[in-house]
Parts: sequence; structure tokens; C-alpha cells
Amino acid sequence: MSVIDLRSDTVTHPTPAMREAMARAEVGDDQSGEDPTVNRLEELAASKVGKEAAMYVPSGIMGNLCALLTHCGRGDEVVMGDQSHIFWYESGGGSALGGLPYRTVRNNRYGGVDLDEIDAAIRPERSGFPPTGLVCLENTHNRCGGTVLDREQMRALSAVAHDRGVPVHLDGARIFNAAAYLNLPVPELTAPVDTVQFCLSKGLSAPVGSVLAGPAPFIHEARKARKMLGGAMRQAGVIAAAGIVALEQMVDRIPEDHRAARTLAQRLSELPGIEIDLETVQTNIVVFELADERFEPEQFLSALADNGLRISSFGARRLRLVARHGLQTEEYDQAVEIIEGVLNGVPAGAR
Ligand SMILES: Cc1ncc(COP(=O)(O)O)c(C=O)c1O
Repeated sequence: MSVIDLRSDTVTHPTPAMREAMARAEVGDDQSGEDPTVNRLEELAASKVGKEAAMYVPSGIMGNLCALLTHCGRGDEVVMGDQSHIFWYESGGGSALGGLPYRTVRNNRYGGVDLDEIDAAIRPERSGFPPTGLVCLENTHNRCGGTVLDREQMRALSAVAHDRGVPVHLDGARIFNAAAYLNLPVPELTAPVDTVQFCLSKGLSAPVGSVLAGPAPFIHEARKARKMLGGAMRQAGVIAAAGIVALEQMVDRIPEDHRAARTLAQRLSELPGIEIDLETVQTNIVVFELADERFEPEQFLSALADNGLRISSFGARRLRLVARHGLQTEEYDQAVEIIEGVLNGVPAGAR
């Protein structure tokens, strides 16, 4: 049985053009700055997000962690949304490894945070208060269903932090999806923040890697954090070559994923037993609530898997599907049929 995998855009495979570029990549020792392909990727990536310099890292989590460790000194507090990826899924790395306490502010259903709440979370100077070292934003917002912060929100949120002398880091794992949704160049969204991390290995389909971008002196320091974390690589041009193809060839097709997610969400919203907030379906992610209480989420997921569909869970009764490169319209149609079949109690193999 073939399996339709809608768990994440991280399950995308390298395209034939990527594999070819990987095979042909010129390489050198990147720890000495001598890998021409990594250098080319870093330059290209910096220009795509409108920053002076960039550093290739093995994962989005390492990109975010290098940012936290470079912006902050031990004991500094990091302010972030209570639904943010850094808070939920990154092993508390900044706290564990950098001695950085986290302070959360409430995320609204679109992944934004209230300007006053950010302002209130930034500590005034006082003995006994941990100094606020950094504010983190996320765009698109994963746990809020791939929702987008627009240019004005990015500006206003960053301005609150900057007015208090605090820098801003953007977890822009899917910033190219946000820009595609708004039909804007990425730098329009990243200009207000000091640093940005984005992933090559999600909707852009590269097999490995993310990029941390920002001012050149910051990236120079961030290379020390990457080294300390064991993330400095050698002939990394072999994988960076796929990242270059991702940036050159895979950005323009992102709206296809957004259209597929929208259609998927609309069709699922018509099924009894499923609740979707359609206003949050803006990019490639669809989050829905399994309202049909005859099913426990685990049992529902395994019934879908028995029928050849894999999706993921956000805990409680919230489930997630992600549209991505490599799937055709028929496979999205089939996914809806499988979900409908399971809700109607159709046994596996009877479709
Ligand atoms: C918003 C966000 N930030 C960061 C990451 C981490 O990326 P990686 O899995 O490459 O470490 C993810 C991964 O899903 C993500 O969704």
C-alpha cells in the first residue's frame, strides 16, 4: 500500500536537480571558511532575507540556539510566545546550555502577541530582575497553524523591543511561506528584526540545513556558538549545494502548497466530526480539532495509518496536516477520502 505522508513539509525529498548539484558540488573545509559551495549558499541566503551575512547550520533548532547564545549573556531572559517552537520543541536549549531563562507571553490564534504584553514582559533595570536579553518572534507560526505576521505587525512588535533596547530574533523557519502569502519580498518582513533563522529543509525541500542571518559582526560571533555546539562541518558543500537549488528553484512554487492546503481545509471543514478555524489556514499547514468524541486521537491516527495516510498530532485533540512538494492533487483528494472513511467507520482496505 502506498502511503500519503502529510505529517510535515520536513518529509520532502531532494529534487533531481538537487541530487545532481550535490554530486557536482565543489567542496573544501568549511570550518576554515574554504568550502566554496557553502560560501555561495551563505551569500545567496543573506541576500534573499536582506541581511549582511549568513551562516549555514545543520538544523533550524541549531540556528535558533546559536542566535540565543550570541544575543544573550548567561542569566539574560528571553521573551517568546507561549506557543512558539523555541518554547515547545527545542529542548529548552537556551536555558539548558546558555543559562537563559525563558519568559512567555500569550500567542493569539494567529501567532501574534499583544504589543502591551511584550512591553510588560521586558524587565525594567532593577537589581534582582533578570535582564531581558532578547525577544523572539515566529513567522509563519507552526502551532498556530502556519499563520502569518504581516509587515506592519513585524514592524510594530520589533519596535516595542527596540524602544526598550532589546534585540529581536525571528524564527522564520517558514518565512518564505509568509512572504508568498503576503506576496511580498522576504526582506520586507525581515527588515525590522535583527536576526532571522530560516529552514531550507521544509517547504523548500532541501535534505538538510537552515540558515542564520544578520549583521556581519553578529554572524562572526555566531560561528563560535555553532562551533561550540558541534555544528561546524567540513565538506558541507555536498549538502549546501541542495540548499542553493532550494533557494533558486523551490521558492516560486510555494503558492501551490498554499492552494492545496486551502482546498484540503475547505473539504475537511465539511466533514461532520472535524472542526477547523478556516481563518488560520493561510499557508501550507492545516490544523483541525477532532470533535467526534467516538474517537481518541491516537486511535484515529492509527486508523488513518492503517488506510495509508499519515498526519501528526499537536496534543489534545488537535491534529495537523501539511501540504508539500511531491504530492499531486489526487493524493490530497485521497487523503480527504481516507479521513471521511475513517470517520464513517469504513474498515481499512474497503475503500
Ligand atoms: C517554526 C519552527 N522553527 C524551528 C524548527 C526547527 O527546525 P529543525 O527541525 O530543522 O531543527 C521547526 C521545525 O519544524 C519549526 O516548525
